[in-house]
Amino acid sequence: MAQPEYVIDEMISAKSIAARIEAMAKEIRASFKGTDKLIIVGLLRGSFVFIADLVRELDLPVEVDFLEASSYGDGMESSREVRILKDLRGEIGGRDVLLVEDIVDTGFTLKHVTELLNTRKPRRLETIALLDKPSRREVDIKATWTGFEIPDEFVVGYGIDYAQRNRNLPHIGKVRFTGG
Ligand code: IMP
Repeated sequence: MAQPEYVIDEMISAKSIAARIEAMAKEIRASFKGTDKLIIVGLLRGSFVFIADLVRELDLPVEVDFLEASSYGDGMESSREVRILKDLRGEIGGRDVLLVEDIVDTGFTLKHVTELLNTRKPRRLETIALLDKPSRREVDIKATWTGFEIPDEFVVGYGIDYAQRNRNLPHIGKVRFTGG
């Protein structure tokens, strides 16, 4: 199906993202100080760029694992139904876990995935989201750390896609349809 025409207006620069990640990494390092069990769980696919930058700022012993959940398909609306498409390779029982999400929108994905991970009895489970759209929330959930709160706009870049495109933009931009 042909995608409608759109342009991308920069919303958050690559420089601002880097500065915010550095600040959050400092807090995370302090919070998990002394741990020898931290496992970073990335929610695919939108968080892959964020994780790559975040782990390089974390001067802690970390392991990285990935989980893929789907709620959006290729469209712009959350389906509210969260499916696990790819599960973790490793065990998290007794481990300190930091779940990394790209955007918290309705909140269904974060809620579903944290509930799932909690059934596996980690020692500690915290969450971090690069972006948060609080005005879109339908379930009461908030990440432990949030990079930026943004308005109700559809965004792309820095790992985040629209119909699988634009993940490779170095900044976060908002999609503006131009018609045609
Ligand atoms: P939630 O379950 O509604 O909170 O949706 C979270 C997921 O929807 C995110 O992990 C993204 O993959 C996707 N999503 C939410 N907002 C946007 C957006 O503005 N652009 C691209 N994907 C988004």
